[in-house]
Amino acid sequence: MLPMGQQKLGIIDSGVGGFSVVRELLRQDSSLDILYIGDQLYCPYGPKKPDFIRQRVAELVDYLLSQGAEAVAIACNSATIHAISFLRERYDIPIIGMEPGVKPAANQTKTGIIAVLATEASLSGEKFHRLIAEHGNRIRVITRPCPEMVDLVEAGELTGEKPRQILSRILAPLLEEKADQFVLGCTHFPFLKAIIADLLPHNCEIIDTSQAVVRHIREQLKTLEHANGSEIAKLWLFSSADEKQLQRQFGQLCPESTGSIVDCSSIT
Ligand code: DGL
Repeated sequence: MLPMGQQKLGIIDSGVGGFSVVRELLRQDSSLDILYIGDQLYCPYGPKKPDFIRQRVAELVDYLLSQGAEAVAIACNSATIHAISFLRERYDIPIIGMEPGVKPAANQTKTGIIAVLATEASLSGEKFHRLIAEHGNRIRVITRPCPEMVDLVEAGELTGEKPRQILSRILAPLLEEKADQFVLGCTHFPFLKAIIADLLPHNCEIIDTSQAVVRHIREQLKTLEHANGSEIAKLWLFSSADEKQLQRQFGQLCPESTGSIVDCSSIT
């Protein structure tokens, strides 16, 4: 168990996608200490079966509890969609999940057509279908599984010709269909936002819910956060593959926050 003191928030993703949530927490000066697991041994989750995702994420929550986590954010849309109800029944702590921004996209579209970029696991989940049924009934929703985008972010390929070509192949048919809202339905994708913005015409918008999600997490965990006074958040990194690699990836994706890292270690 890690040292007591600050209240700890566990954060889980298949890899580095959840860093988009960590980055936003630190930007908003949250004082919650963070225990972050990148389950890179099993990354990507996108092509995995729902049962596998559920069981694996429960193991990771058990681990976080053993390390003193008092709440957990599932910073992964795929795991949220397939595991959140199961986790909430199983654990007696706050478990917070992600939700693709279908609702804001539906409210903002002028063409009546929105595109959701996510993983195969997310797009096939019942929880996702319910979200579309609730907010997408007066518009057309085009879904596009994008495993290539997860690979790019895990490999740190965020700029240059390769990601540009991959992204333009993904976006071109969606633009032809007249989509004008592009929902980033996977926590890895905000790291490709600059390149996506560059490829989209001016009438199009990118729906990135990272800020809203973090506001929601902080609101839900207000009492934990206030218990810490004004101390700066600390970050512990755990990888099921190579912890040094995860630390390097954090340095690339969140360069302004490397001072928060206290330690990085491996888990099984
Ligand atoms: N970052 C994840 C998500 O939000 C998972 C990506 C993957 O492992 O396929 O869905």
